Amino acid sequence: MPVLVNRVNTCWGAFVYVALLDSILRVGTIKVTVPEGRLTAVRGRTTILGCEFTPEPGSDLANLVVTWQRQEDLHVVHSYYYQQDQLDRQSAEYHGRTSLFYSELSKGNASLRIIDVGPRDVGRYQCMVSTSSGTDKAEIQLDYGVFYTEPRLSISFSAKKVSVQYEAEGFPKPDVKWLGEQGQNLSHHTEVLEGVDGDIGLYHLKSSYEADTPALNITFVLRNELLHQDLQRPVSFSYADDSSNGVVITLALSCVVLIIIVLILSWLYWKKRT
Ligand SMILES: *[C@@H]1O[C@H](CO)[C@@H](O)[C@H](O)[C@H]1NC(C)=O
Ligand SMILES: *[C@@H]1O[C@H](CO)[C@@H](O)[C@H](O)[C@H]1NC(C)=O
Ligand SMILES: *[C@@H]1O[C@H](CO)[C@@H](O)[C@H](O)[C@H]1NC(C)=O
Repeated sequence: MPVLVNRVNTCWGAFVYVALLDSILRVGTIKVTVPEGRLTAVRGRTTILGCEFTPEPGSDLANLVVTWQRQEDLHVVHSYYYQQDQLDRQSAEYHGRTSLFYSELSKGNASLRIIDVGPRDVGRYQCMVSTSSGTDKAEIQLDYGVFYTEPRLSISFSAKKVSVQYEAEGFPKPDVKWLGEQGQNLSHHTEVLEGVDGDIGLYHLKSSYEADTPALNITFVLRNELLHQDLQRPVSFSYADDSSNGVVITLALSCVVLIIIVLILSWLYWKKRT
């Protein structure tokens, strides 16, 4: 009995081995690759999701099927077969915003162009290609960012304090620091408001530093990690405390007037006596 079981196992093993080899050979003839790492789309620019595949001998497109899909919800981003775009099942969110590079398809380039990229486009995209040699797929991650605008400076004075504020718009949330003259971290008040004018792909940053010294030499630092954007804006100024000077001048004038009045009164009194 044991001998028989062993034979069945060997037979089954050989079958599995052949099936595996067959699938490896078939899948091995088409290979789909995407660029490594994450891709960052910048607002207002066109983004190209790269995807390459092993082209068919003779650059034949007759059996080519290219499908770009979102991984999260399997929504169709772009679809191509019978040598033309097939957009009936395309997700409405991508309507009119996608295209392939048609002259590149025969060279094994199934890259997808997306225009008007926004925060809703952030996510994972699958590039799946079928030819008569088989099917393969690969995945690419898309991020989205907006370079921060040149920070706008405003300075306001109150009784005993001066407040320095910078404002800027960008995406996503930045790292913000205020540094003192020796490069030390200063405590600051920073708020990031989501959705400027209902635009969810833009943050409004307001950051302020308050001081009660008559001279300032500080640096505002903003970093947008995703886009490797670094902004450093130094601020230095000194201001005279005019309000206390005013009080001194008023007091001095009052004294002079008082002395004159006393002198006049004394003179009148002296004149009346004589
Ligand atoms: C595919 O075509 C696009 C558009 O011409 C190009 O930007 C991209 O570099 C091409 N990809 C490769 C791998 O050649
Ligand atoms: C401000 O400090 C920097 C060093 O942190 C120095 O190089 C610069 O001269 C200072 N500016 C003023 C106006 O004091
Ligand atoms: C300032 O704070 C940041 C974190 O907010 C830290 O990474 C950095 O090392 C600090 N720098 C100094 C000089 O303390």
